[in-house]
Amino acid sequence: MKIRKLGTPFSISACKVLLCGGGELGKEVVIEFKRLGCEVVVLDRYDNAPAMQVADRRYVLSMLDGDKLERIIQLEQPDYIVPEIEAIATDKLVALEAQGFTVVPSAKATQLTMNREGIRRLAAEELNIPTSKYQFVDTLNDFKRAVAEIGFPCVIKPIMSSSGKGQSVVKHSQDIELAWQHAQEGGRAGQGRVIVEGFVEFDYEITLLTVRHIAGTSFCEPIGHVQENGDYQQSWQPQAMSALALERSKAVATLVTDALGGRGLFGVELFIKGDEVFFSEVSPRPHDTGMVTLISQDLSEFALHVRAILGLPIPHIHFSGPSASSVLLVTGNSNRVAFDNVAEALSESHTDIRLFGKPEVAGTRRMGVALARDESVERAVNKAKNIIEKIQVDV
Ligand SMILES: Nc1ncnc2c1ncn2[C@@H]1O[C@H](COP(=O)(O)OP(=O)(O)O)[C@@H](O)[C@H]1O
Ligand SMILES: [Mg+2]
Repeated sequence: MKIRKLGTPFSISACKVLLCGGGELGKEVVIEFKRLGCEVVVLDRYDNAPAMQVADRRYVLSMLDGDKLERIIQLEQPDYIVPEIEAIATDKLVALEAQGFTVVPSAKATQLTMNREGIRRLAAEELNIPTSKYQFVDTLNDFKRAVAEIGFPCVIKPIMSSSGKGQSVVKHSQDIELAWQHAQEGGRAGQGRVIVEGFVEFDYEITLLTVRHIAGTSFCEPIGHVQENGDYQQSWQPQAMSALALERSKAVATLVTDALGGRGLFGVELFIKGDEVFFSEVSPRPHDTGMVTLISQDLSEFALHVRAILGLPIPHIHFSGPSASSVLLVTGNSNRVAFDNVAEALSESHTDIRLFGKPEVAGTRRMGVALARDESVERAVNKAKNIIEKIQVDV
């Protein structure tokens, strides 16, 4: 991956970045690029997406439309193409990379991770990393056979989906048909292939933020989190781990991220049972549970991603102490959500909040995140939850 000089926006020297996806994680990435004087363009499927609100230019399109995506990229000629979501025409990114464009961290990484099959086969079959038992199936009959072989409980997921969409746990044979239907309806690419995974009875799960940068690979303190209804609720750092489990986690993360290549930050999701480590999945970009680093580290996961992309050094990541994040979920139908009592919510020291500025809620949507630091992880988690409890939302 080449290194581009930093320049002046809107001039011939501009270092130009194009983000495919403009959610809350992208918004923080844009802010970090803007701090270094980059010119930033954001693409998303709806207008006024969070990252668009802090970018220089924006385009509204479905990024699964490869021709439209290419037209914009050819027009903008970005130095770096930074995917922020999975739902992108990644075959187009592969073609653009072959033409000389730089895709972060690499077109191969975005392609392999947008599909559960690509990354699972790479990790388990090529790299021989322990994972849950699994099978890929295309029909209800094959699904039944796979469940019989893997056993109960097992988890079914569309191969292309995120945020728990189409995912369910199959506990009894009575669950099979409903789980199949649910998976067929929940996939990004419509009906089709699913993965059936054995349920891992883990003690806890972590996200290990792993940065591949100009001088090697660095890790953040492990992040623990709880998942509910397909999304994370709270995350904390550091997750207490045995030395052996941490060492193994770093080894797995190194193997996987080296195989994906390029420079950037990855969120490596692992299940831990005793000292055993199972690879689950990886995002070749900042991770939602990693928002806790906005308060726990001198360089957040977003700052680390940007440093890595631009070829800047990461000599040290300063960890400020036990920290937590808690999500602000809003339910209703509104395009004028307002937040009250924020002053009271932030009255304690070492607390912060991000309000994403999403233009609309229809159903339940993550609209913000509370951040807290304290003497222990437990206290930090409670502090972050208290912030959320105090926020009053008008929908
Ligand atoms: N095989 C499994 N065994 C136990 N829990 C699982 C398994 N697969 C997924 N989970 C739980 O579901 C969550 C979401 O699954 P994941 O594969 O990460 O999907 P997504 O792409 O939607 O994040 C995980 O973080 C974990 O809590
Ligand atoms: Mg996940």
